[in-house]
Amino acid sequence: MSATTNANRGSSSPSTSPTLSHSPTSNASSAPTPRVPYIPIPRRGVDYRGKIVLAPMVRSGELPSRLLALHYGADLVWGPETVDRSMIGTNQSTNPRTGCIEWKRCPTAHAHSPVKEDGEKESVIFRIDPQRESDRLIFQIGTNSPERAVAAADLVAPFCCGIDVNAGCPKPFSTDGGMGAALLTTENGDLLVRILEALVAEVGRKHEIGISVKIRLLSTSEETSTLVNKLCKTGITGLTIHCRTRPMRPRERAIRDQLRMIGEICHAHGVACLMNGDVVSRDESVKLAAEYGVDGGMIATAAEANSSVFLSEEQGGKKPWREVVTQYMLFAISVENKWGNTKFLLSQLMPGKDPAYLKVCQSKNYVAGLTALGLDQNNDLLEASKKLDSILGLDGPKIPRTELKKANKAANRAKHEANIAAKKKRQADEMAAREAEQTKRGRMSSPMRDQSQEPQSSSARSPLRKAEIAAENAGFEGVGQGALQVAV
Ligand SMILES: Cc1cc2nc3c(=O)[nH]c(=O)nc-3n(C[C@H](O)[C@H](O)[C@H](O)COP(=O)(O)O)c2cc1C
Repeated sequence: MSATTNANRGSSSPSTSPTLSHSPTSNASSAPTPRVPYIPIPRRGVDYRGKIVLAPMVRSGELPSRLLALHYGADLVWGPETVDRSMIGTNQSTNPRTGCIEWKRCPTAHAHSPVKEDGEKESVIFRIDPQRESDRLIFQIGTNSPERAVAAADLVAPFCCGIDVNAGCPKPFSTDGGMGAALLTTENGDLLVRILEALVAEVGRKHEIGISVKIRLLSTSEETSTLVNKLCKTGITGLTIHCRTRPMRPRERAIRDQLRMIGEICHAHGVACLMNGDVVSRDESVKLAAEYGVDGGMIATAAEANSSVFLSEEQGGKKPWREVVTQYMLFAISVENKWGNTKFLLSQLMPGKDPAYLKVCQSKNYVAGLTALGLDQNNDLLEASKKLDSILGLDGPKIPRTELKKANKAANRAKHEANIAAKKKRQADEMAAREAEQTKRGRMSSPMRDQSQEPQSSSARSPLRKAEIAAENAGFEGVGQGALQVAV
């Protein structure tokens, strides 16, 4: 496997495995090895074969982390799981300062009403750097619906080279909604198949990119094999296996006894297979992939701690954390990353015992963080940090969260009261107009009126209007109005 830093583009015509060392029948000593066609890689898609990639990681896989991993040689990068509902209804725009494409929404806006309420700040749901990552970015989606998966993926597909479905997350926020590892149960396996088929047909073909899936091990080889066989028939180009079962915690060692079998099933269908779980460097990934007959490796926590794990020993290997952190700050500033997320990543990249660690964790903006890291001597970086703090509104005195909450509550209450007052005024105006009309008509018309001549507007049919008409017919305009006023 090569340690190239560039993703090889796919070709739209079916290719054949160059070695077929992964063919399920390749171990049979005398039988001729059949050449299994690969699922064609669409024109804008990428082939996962021979790739060492950055895993999808919520929080830890935001844009600057992905750029950092690419900088240190990751062949492809997965975005953090983004739930379909949170993407649908977002507003897409290009940040004129950074050139990044951003999908934003107000925290309170729902898929059906992406309306920005006065004064409410939109938050970035997903951000892509089209220049630096689009041809190596796989967008991962959290979903439990073929329709929503298609709707959400369709938004991002023009700017990435693949869509991946998360069918491995065991956390309740994912599984309670029927997403993530919940898609791996026997009853939901068919739903996952339908989601992948819909994405292949409606997003993959339309945008000429590949569709893939990331799963966990099921408890027995038979169950895993049945599932992988089903998934490989959907038209996906790649499958990642996280070598842990659903109940296993991250600190438990990954188990690899089903890995060879999974790789073989994938290859029998022409699907690329990546391994994930306790892979800590490029060199180790290459070695393990060869040992288990899979096509490449995906690295999560080791890359979260130091993204230079993507460099092979031959390329110089892992870099000191200070160098990685400096590079990370450059990327974070260049894409206007949220300070809270930048600080979180710094806390992952720095050793906890370093004296600067606590200071970084306590800093409230980019300038303070830079100073805590001792990087404020770099004038360009300092100036860029000052500018960014001002853009992000982090340069003034920080309003305490409780004060902000109070102010928001007061503003909402004032808005509510203004709405009620406006409604009352409207009702009073309508009533006054009706009274004036009644008085005018009362003077002109005879006391008894034929009810069938009354216009049958909705207001005429309303109880209020019926009572008015009855009062008029009874010749008690004055009394009637008074009674109505009481009733209203
Ligand atoms: C902080 C964090 C966030 C993660 N978020 C996701 C995610 O969004 N989607 C996903 O499929 N897996 C997610 N995972 C799981 C990883 O992608 C990976 O499968 C797991 O960490 C095992 O790989 P490792 O042993 O190299 O850490 C996350 C893991 C971590 C540590």
